[in-house]
Amino acid sequence: MKSQQELGVAVPANKPLVVRTIKQVTKEQREYVLKKTEYSMFSFPADLIFVDFLSDSGSGTMTDFQWAALFHGDESYARNKGYYVLLEAIRDTFERGDYPKKSIDMILSGETNVKKLIDELYLKSYEGGFVNGGIHQLTRPNAFIVPQGRCAEHLLFSTIAPILRENKNITYYIPNNGHFDTTEANISANGIIAVNLFSANLMEDFPYDEMDKRNPFKGNMDLEGLENLIQEKGVDTIPLIYITITNNTAAGQPVSMQNIKAVHKIAQKYDIPLFFDACRFAENAHFIKEFEEGYQNYTIPRIIQEMFSYVDGFTISYKKDGLANMGGFLCFRDKGLFHKKFSINEDIGIKLKEKQILTFGNDSYGGMSGRDIMALAAGLYEVVKEPYLNERKTHVRDFARKLAQNGIPVILPAGGHAVYLDMNKFFEGTDMKISDFGGVGFTIELLKHYGIRAVELGPFAFEWDKKTPEQRKGILNLVRFAMPRNVYNTSHIDYAVAAITELYKNRDKIPKVRISRGAELRLRHFQSGIQPIYKE
Ligand code: F0G
Repeated sequence: MKSQQELGVAVPANKPLVVRTIKQVTKEQREYVLKKTEYSMFSFPADLIFVDFLSDSGSGTMTDFQWAALFHGDESYARNKGYYVLLEAIRDTFERGDYPKKSIDMILSGETNVKKLIDELYLKSYEGGFVNGGIHQLTRPNAFIVPQGRCAEHLLFSTIAPILRENKNITYYIPNNGHFDTTEANISANGIIAVNLFSANLMEDFPYDEMDKRNPFKGNMDLEGLENLIQEKGVDTIPLIYITITNNTAAGQPVSMQNIKAVHKIAQKYDIPLFFDACRFAENAHFIKEFEEGYQNYTIPRIIQEMFSYVDGFTISYKKDGLANMGGFLCFRDKGLFHKKFSINEDIGIKLKEKQILTFGNDSYGGMSGRDIMALAAGLYEVVKEPYLNERKTHVRDFARKLAQNGIPVILPAGGHAVYLDMNKFFEGTDMKISDFGGVGFTIELLKHYGIRAVELGPFAFEWDKKTPEQRKGILNLVRFAMPRNVYNTSHIDYAVAAITELYKNRDKIPKVRISRGAELRLRHFQSGIQPIYKE
């Protein structure tokens, strides 16, 4: 008899006890609404959609542990109890590996021992890591709560850009294995050039029946490209190096520990601070455990601890990884390289904190509600659980496998949070050109005919027509189906696979699109209007 592992399918990790009824909207109704909302995926009412793969961001199902924590939310203006619990949860997650303190349990179990609460939570002092505590967070702030990832990016780049320019008025570059759209936009809004250094093997074919056996870590940073960029542009032009885990822009592919270590080595050699865009850290850690030699016997928390030991700081959206509905964070290592480089006339932490308070709120809530802070702190313990990660991975992989079996050009192996179609291959043999935004036309038809929402992450989203030939090399032509955590099951996936397959068969009927309004807007895929051009 096979063991449960040998069955080759994920062991169920949870069961939904609340369901939401999906409205039975007709094709004609969707067509009407699409027209009225300028065919924009971001303007279409979510309530009228059957299956929404637009984003895994904040759209997941929270666990009962998180809902229970939410009731402990403290909405005080300053030093709400969730603040302490969240900082502890962050230390536990990113620094303590197999030895978390789990102070949240004191709050959730109604601890009434005041001395214990004071000594172990409210006045506990820490320094030296990503999250100073007690008096050290006041004198040398290094951890900043914000509502979401892009707020952390804004806080960071809008604070360092003037420091850089004051120091030397030159062109600056920030390389990444794949900048997300908001990261790139926040960098360029501050006059810095965002450079994508995708791994050379990213678009290579991969057999779908080997997804459970090996993984080429296509999300890796191109190390040679990084060395070349530093050599070509000069060390002084590169204020930071970024690694995004997993690499959302590059088809959600994971980054290997080896690659993280190698980038760390290069960063060290040139004395450049290294940051993570840590959005999907738990999923990335799970890939390392499953596929990277030497990590099979490590726990997920221990892998995360090692991953983060190589960076000087990170920005994160806690809305990803199925972690929470809201939350973001910026931090850097106490007295580390980032702190040293950017504290020129004034401590960089003090500057960041001032901006945090000016823009988002008191530093102990940073624009989040106390309820959300508690749910997020609880979520940090949920998201590293292996059965959950295992089930999620299997789910995404099944989706990709079923598409591949039907001959759809899906990027393989599947990434951690989403399935991506290669639209160049999808439209091969038709007259669709990259400037026709065929990926957008595909998403319009998928929503119109079948009530399924996906998103183009390609020439339209990344504004191909506004880029130089050099920058265009950093743009892929993809459509993404992101999976919110614990929202959809096999029946949703099967419905989507059938719909996508039907559209693929009829790909010559998919319209080219024209941007009818707002082509020049920054982050235009959230804002502009689109007009599909249907053939007679
Ligand atoms: N970095 C990455 C890698 C992301 O995927 C996102 C958001 C952000 C930063 C910004 O975080 O939304 O909290 O401000 N990605 C979402 C998505 C929106 O659909 O992939 P945010």
